[in-house]
Amino acid sequence: MRTVIYPGSFDPITNGHLDVIERAAKLFDRVIVGVAENESKKALFTLPERCELITRATRHLKNVTADTFSGLLVDYVVRRKAQAIIRGLRAISDFEYEFQMALMNRKLADRVETLFMMPKEQYTFISSRLVKEVAMLGGDIGEFVPRHVQQALRARLTKPQRP
Ligand code: PNS
Repeated sequence: MRTVIYPGSFDPITNGHLDVIERAAKLFDRVIVGVAENESKKALFTLPERCELITRATRHLKNVTADTFSGLLVDYVVRRKAQAIIRGLRAISDFEYEFQMALMNRKLADRVETLFMMPKEQYTFISSRLVKEVAMLGGDIGEFVPRHVQQALRARLTKPQRP
């Protein structure tokens, strides 16, 4: 059983993330989308909300599940009996940070491999941060996120936010 972890903040999941998940689901027996708890990043959606948005977006993929984790990513990978980590690479600008993380993770757990996947070109400029900004300013985000995520963003951004 080949299992891969696709970790990230996913606040919220975008069509770019989904493209990477669909590609990974063809290569691995099991894909676990791991939503990381990060105290230092103020998120728009809670961890369970982000998980739920991912679960709905990946309903058509039978070998994909969403889960949350805290602590070191490599510990989570070992705990879930996975062999590898997938990260999406959109542009050269992503590379330095990703390379550093991959090497640190290798140092921490030598047998955990990091694989990089490129999303479709049409998604390379999409990020959760920009999608939130465009949505907040009233722009159309229909092309960038699944419909239920668009609705969740609209609902969250028109209601008072969590403290
Ligand atoms: O979507 P993001 O915010 O770029 O994802 C970053 C993430 C969650 C993959 C990274 O911050 C992470 O792995 N966090 C878990 C804590 C950890 O293992 N840190 C050391 C990484 S070398």
